Amino acid sequence: MLRVGVMVSGGGTNLQAILDAIDSGAIRGASIEAVISNNPGAYALERAKSRGIEAVCLSPKSFESREQFNEALLAKTDEYNLDLIVLAGFLVTIPEAMIQKYRNRIINIHPSLIPSFCGVGYYGLKVHEAALKRGVKLTGATVHYVDEGVDSGPIILQKAVEVLPGDTPEILQRRVMEEAEWKILPEAIDMIANGRTV
Ligand code: GRF
Repeated sequence: MLRVGVMVSGGGTNLQAILDAIDSGAIRGASIEAVISNNPGAYALERAKSRGIEAVCLSPKSFESREQFNEALLAKTDEYNLDLIVLAGFLVTIPEAMIQKYRNRIINIHPSLIPSFCGVGYYGLKVHEAALKRGVKLTGATVHYVDEGVDSGPIILQKAVEVLPGDTPEILQRRVMEEAEWKILPEAIDMIANGRTV
């Protein structure tokens, strides 16, 4: 059984997609051992609690320094003996020590077709604003391994989504989530849990 930890900062719709996929059997051989957030107000924590999953908040604001937060985040993560860490809208930079310790065991969902619209400053609605500004006809989402860069690790899965006339950033974000993110993140976890990643 693949022991999975999910790190979140917001509404948790990607976490919900993972939980639903475990229930439906779309993900086999994986269990969510903990959900960790930097944001005490993250609704993702409520989604975890309602399923009896350990929901932990570690806010950088509660620590004297970023270094102390980083140490606490790694120590808390280590408590769960995880095989895989899933970043599902986690807006905190992963400490280098964690990337080294969990090399090729941290994955992230990014709401574009990397290498487009990714890297520093490209998160949330900003990604979709940039796609609309550039006028791309296709965008989508990417699941990739996390390395020391920003959105730069090896790509695991991608799924394309059409940009439609009249799309606003909010409309496009929702379509990318519904048609891409909520499908490929659970699929990537199932692939890893069952040894099917390339
Ligand atoms: C998603 O758009 C994801 O692509 C990005 O952050 C957002 C998280 O949304 N990384 P949610 O918290 O899973 O609803």
